[in-house]
Amino acid sequence: MSPTPKRPSESSLRRTNWVLAGITCGFLALAAVLLATPWKPATQAKIPLVDPSFLEQTAWRKSYADLAREKADLSDFQCYVCHEKKNPPPLRYDDQHVLIVPDEHSDIKMGHGTHNRNNLCYNCHNEGNLLTFSTRDGNELQFAESSRLCGSCHGPNFRDWEAGVHGRMNGYWNHQLGEFKRLDCVNCHNPHAPRIPTRKPAPPPHPLRQPVLLEPQAPQATTP
Ligand code: HEC
Ligand code: HEC
Ligand code: HEC
Ligand code: HEC
Repeated sequence: MSPTPKRPSESSLRRTNWVLAGITCGFLALAAVLLATPWKPATQAKIPLVDPSFLEQTAWRKSYADLAREKADLSDFQCYVCHEKKNPPPLRYDDQHVLIVPDEHSDIKMGHGTHNRNNLCYNCHNEGNLLTFSTRDGNELQFAESSRLCGSCHGPNFRDWEAGVHGRMNGYWNHQLGEFKRLDCVNCHNPHAPRIPTRKPAPPPHPLRQPVLLEPQAPQATTP
């Protein structure tokens, strides 16, 4: 036989009521606070888009071939407006045997190779016909064929370029889907000063979590 449960005393009943009332008030207060402060999703820092200059496809330089295609001003290439065919301009040097580029060609800053090893105009231009190039092995090339001129001295780079490894190809790898375009050496390299200045690299990819805010960095202007 179980003993009859003892009826709780008057005072303990009152205490329970006070505790319940206290808890109720606590929850009501919490509800009031939560209602007063509207809930917002955790704000995520905005991920900046990649600076579009890194996606730019236009070449840095326009070649003779580009200008001819666009029917643009080709007066720089009309050598015989100023020169005479029978009288090719002689090369002049200072007392250190450094080539002097005349004022009329002051837009040309020669600097081909680390020790100006390839600065002589007639290493590339044809002394007998300024309107063409001549390679060291005696081939005459048109202005629009300048990549083959470069290739006559830079064999490995030319081979890589033909394979699509050096210099950029735009368009379709699969030629059946569309056309692809290979830039000429002089679209990237200034033939007279071909070294490409160092540029800032593009920013790294954005991680999915914990976005690290990176200021998009503009590449340093490189107009060779
Ligand atoms: C606007 C006039 C003008 C045009 C166009 C021009 N030249 Fe000249 N060039 C000059 C003058 C002036 C000189 C210096 C005088 C001289 O040696 O006859 C010169 C000098 C040269 C020299 C000698 C450079 C040196 O270091 O001494 C070469 C090589 C040359 N020109 C090649 C060319 C070629 C190639 C073209 C065309 C692609 C061309 N020029 C177009 C005016 C011109
Ligand atoms: C490494 C080969 C090379 C040498 C060396 C060189 N040139 Fe050129 N030059 C070129 C090529 C390639 C072009 C045409 C590039 C193009 O398609 O835009 C050119 C273009 C030119 C032009 C017409 C466009 C312009 O930039 O004004 C002139 C004028 C010229 N060269 C003069 C000279 C003179 C003068 C010298 C010597 C001081 C010289 N070049 C040395 C390769 C060379
Ligand atoms: C007559 C031979 C000859 C021709 C043609 C020639 N180059 Fe060069 N090139 C050289 C030599 C020599 C050097 C210097 C190598 C060195 O200094 O170690 C050089 C260096 C260079 C460099 C490295 C420059 C540096 O400072 O790091 C580049 C890029 C270059 N050439 C591009 C070209 C392009 C583009 C053409 C065509 C417009 C061209 N070359 C045509 C002989 C040539
Ligand atoms: C789409 C642009 C582009 C084209 C087209 C291009 N190059 Fe370059 N080339 C570069 C860049 C970028 C470098 C690396 C420069 C650096 O490392 O400082 C370079 C480097 C070079 C060098 C320096 C030596 C080396 O191997 O690093 C040579 C020489 C050279 N190129 C020759 C050529 C020749 C020749 C052609 C054409 C047959 C050509 N390039 C076409 C962009 C180009």
